[in-house]
Amino acid sequence: SGTGPLTGVKALVTAGPTHEPIDPVRFIANRSSGKQGYAIAKALATAGAKTTLVSGPVDLAPPPGVKLVRVETAADMLAACEAQLPVDVAVMTAAVGDWRPESRATSKLKKTGSGAPSLTLAENPDILATLGKHARRPRLLIGFAAETENVVAYGSDKRTRKAADWILANDVSKGVFGADTNRVHLISEAGVESWPELSKDAVATRLADHIVKALEKAV
Ligand code: C5P
Repeated sequence: SGTGPLTGVKALVTAGPTHEPIDPVRFIANRSSGKQGYAIAKALATAGAKTTLVSGPVDLAPPPGVKLVRVETAADMLAACEAQLPVDVAVMTAAVGDWRPESRATSKLKKTGSGAPSLTLAENPDILATLGKHARRPRLLIGFAAETENVVAYGSDKRTRKAADWILANDVSKGVFGADTNRVHLISEAGVESWPELSKDAVATRLADHIVKALEKAV
């Protein structure tokens, strides 16, 4: 950082899954490698942005020059994101759990011999939607949409529902999870731009280029 086109820009990226504890040894999680989010944080930092990466539990080394904040639950992730505001750009790639166990047992649940316990779930906050209507809303707010069908239509609906500026919609019908490539559609107010199949690093640098252009326009 220090000299790139995003020098002076503050960026926030979320990545990875969340873990929602059931008891001290068990949790509910989403499937997410964190690769795309880590690649985006790296690309933004390389372009000169002061970048914070709020990450759920993943098996990846933090990109150089990025401030890493490790979190476990969706509630922690939201608090960590709000603590970073105001930011110029926020890219929410995390696969946040939609639900958490309503209560967390303080000691390990034991098999009783009389059947399985039942779990009551509570709804988690939607971090992207919360930032979308935030008093200190990021100037440029970008979300992801992993879809298996009607990728652009669902992505476009998500963009308005969550008050995001852009949605990167990707088709996960053929197994993107943990892969090194991604095929995305950039959905904005202006319409849809479909990108070819690219490495997650190339998706990240292309997105960083678009962010540079958008922040130049919106002074
Ligand atoms: O609704 P869905 O999970 O498909 O939305 C995906 C987008 O919303 C992603 O950008 C994801 O990071 C974000 N999201 C979030 N908080 C949630 C659920 C999703 O920030 N609780």
